[in-house]
Amino acid sequence: MSNTEISVLENITQILGYRPDFFGCDLRDMKQLEEIFEKYDFDGVVHFAGLKSPRESCDRANEYFDNNITWSLKLFACMEKYGVMKIIFSSSAAIYSTQGMHKKGLDENADIWNTNHPYGSTKLILENILWDLAKFSWFQVISFRYFNPIWAHTSWLLWENPVWIPNNLFPYIMKVASGDLDYISVFGNDYNTHDGTGIRDYIDVNDLVRGHILWYEYFDTIGQNVACFEVFNLWTWLWISVIEAITSVSNVLWKDISYVFEDRRLGDLAEVYCNPMRAKNILWWTSKVTLDESIKNTLYYHKISA
Ligand code: WQD
Repeated sequence: MSNTEISVLENITQILGYRPDFFGCDLRDMKQLEEIFEKYDFDGVVHFAGLKSPRESCDRANEYFDNNITWSLKLFACMEKYGVMKIIFSSSAAIYSTQGMHKKGLDENADIWNTNHPYGSTKLILENILWDLAKFSWFQVISFRYFNPIWAHTSWLLWENPVWIPNNLFPYIMKVASGDLDYISVFGNDYNTHDGTGIRDYIDVNDLVRGHILWYEYFDTIGQNVACFEVFNLWTWLWISVIEAITSVSNVLWKDISYVFEDRRLGDLAEVYCNPMRAKNILWWTSKVTLDESIKNTLYYHKISA
């Protein structure tokens, strides 16, 4: 809850048609965690919690290690104690190093030993820990390496709405489009890319959610009491630069979006995009939502008319 509001729960209730059980539990609080595991007969865990800004992690490395790693260990210990072995873990494309970049995009075997910032390191270390838990404690692990998740739920009830000024590109562009902010800073125009600005693979959050549900069902195909550790890139194969992102929003809204070029941002890479073939071959999952649809889904929240 460090970067959201409890009111979100009401909107989730509206979507589901019932109020899900909710505990404002700090993962440091082992006692409360155990009480929750005691109360329910969980089938598995989907572990999304964590700090997630590459730039911020460069200034607050220890806090990232503590928050993302130490507290996750408590969760894993609790799972083992209560015999809950399935886990879907939110890993990151941030664990890949630049050396792995090539024309077909990063596949799951790309080099992961040279992370660019503490955030990426936390995800890499957690993947290693989960690997060992699969090998020695019979955990069933699916680790998703997200690229750049964006946008809003199609119900128009949930959207990316950070309490603070957004760090990420698309929420920031929308703040400029809605008039809340005057312009966007483009961090670096001297990268070795076609227009000099950073390239990323942006994935719509609805595709991401569909992927999680599908992959959770994948556990059934491997059966009980069989250890497993699988990693998948979550992908679109839609790779765009910062300038192309700004232009896309501008074209959908028929609005000029002001930007200025600034120095490169600490911890940033020129290009991060993935090769989707493993997920496609094994799970027959592909992204469906187009960038224009994603942009339109979010207009309502930003009180913009196209
Ligand atoms: C995208 C591009 C910036 C803001 C994200 C997540 C991270 C991880 C990896 C899952 C870069 C440029 C941005 C701005 C800009 N995902 N930019 N002006 O850093 O790729 O990281 O993906 O684990 O959690 O945060 O995403 O949206 O911040 O940046 O020019 O005001 O946009 O330099 O090239 P990033 P981002």
